[in-house]
Amino acid sequence: GPDAQAAPGSCPLAGAESPPELFTWEFAADPYPAYAWLRTHAPVHRTRLPSGVEAWLVTRYADARAALADPRLSKNPAHHDEPAHAKGKTGIPGERKAELMTHLLNIDPPDHTRLRRLVSKAFTPRRVAEFAPRVQELTDSLIDSFAARGSADLIHEFAFPLPIYAICELLGVPREDQDDFRDWAGMMIRHGGGPRGGVARSVKKMRAYLAELIHRKREDLGEESARDDLISGLIRASDHGEHLTENEVAAMAFILLFAGFETTVNLIGNGTYTLLRNPGRRAEFQRAVAEEDSALLASSVEELLRYDGPVELATWRFATRPLEIGGQRIASGDPVLVVLAAADRDPARFPAPDTLDLARTDNQHLGYGHGIHYCLGAPLARLEGQYALGTLLRRLPDLRLAAEPEELRWRGGLIMRGLRTLPVSFTPR
Ligand code: HEM
Repeated sequence: GPDAQAAPGSCPLAGAESPPELFTWEFAADPYPAYAWLRTHAPVHRTRLPSGVEAWLVTRYADARAALADPRLSKNPAHHDEPAHAKGKTGIPGERKAELMTHLLNIDPPDHTRLRRLVSKAFTPRRVAEFAPRVQELTDSLIDSFAARGSADLIHEFAFPLPIYAICELLGVPREDQDDFRDWAGMMIRHGGGPRGGVARSVKKMRAYLAELIHRKREDLGEESARDDLISGLIRASDHGEHLTENEVAAMAFILLFAGFETTVNLIGNGTYTLLRNPGRRAEFQRAVAEEDSALLASSVEELLRYDGPVELATWRFATRPLEIGGQRIASGDPVLVVLAAADRDPARFPAPDTLDLARTDNQHLGYGHGIHYCLGAPLARLEGQYALGTLLRRLPDLRLAAEPEELRWRGGLIMRGLRTLPVSFTPR
């Protein structure tokens, strides 16, 4: 049977009368009891975020799913009633930041519809499927780099580089430039909510690099050697009279990098950690890998996403007019944050929601969002998750945590949920 991690009814906050403290370090380590309290007592809850901005947290599955698909909730920060905050909160400083910010997650229809249709033409499930052997190679070569040592930090040596190299290759960033991307991305993930100088420099360098790369690829399009990569695909699509500006291509490349990067790091990190903490389920997972049970492998990765997914809160939404969510009145201009991590543990939707059940069917979790902004990269994320976790536990079958769970630190950002480090040990191979 499933490992009992949280005994039913043992929630330490179950009887508490006032809202639990949110966004503390304890909360970052385990937000689920606080979310259970909110779902029960304050399912649409107004709170002050660490940045000082006030926002509504939506924690029940049904409300969350409805909010994600509600056209009255805009993604455009211009609708925030505190425009200064809306501008500052993107975390991307720099005088021309707006250029990279006009991307899918910050726009509404009809612009969103147009851009999403274009990128969907270039970023097809088929392209992702064809990429599978390359993901396997990347995974193996990363494991090769630490397998003989008998220990590793899986975040920095495995979960972090894999998605960066993968998305760079899909976009068509030449091999010799990929380590620059790795450095810029590292700067952004390490200092996302902290010191700004380095981040601003990294964004600037990346923007300049992307502009030049797009320019070069446009020149090469007519050539024999023109590559069948995503950036070239986007340029081709825009040259067929569909109006994608050079800036929009750059913003698209940028969002593909960033939406697909820290999320996948956390899928691999949180997923490995959850398996290591649930020995019975981990054995089941390893059996699925050994027997090449692809259905169980796939349902396992979905369940890991539901159970402790990479995206704790969906990205910002702003009410464009007064509306009601779960019986609560929301004023025009109010920010709304849909708490995916809370919705995906809602007992009204998932039986035994705090139990990790790798064979769970009827698992329509919100880990990839819902509605028109549903994750564009989900096929790639699934591929990377299955190859990374499967290969890791196949090649290092006695993998174990090399730290007490209490010693591990969670990043504690607002949107994402992930570990800073994941020290492991294993028999050297
Ligand atoms: C959107 C999750 C990996 C590209 C989203 C959203 C979620 C999400 C929750 C919706 C956000 C919202 O509505 O506020 C994840 C998770 C991933 C993952 C959990 C990994 C496990 C990727 C990858 C890529 C990607 C690998 C691309 C290479 C995108 C893009 C959007 C998006 C472009 C915006 C779509 C739109 O606005 O139309 N993702 N993502 N994601 N994701 Fe992912």
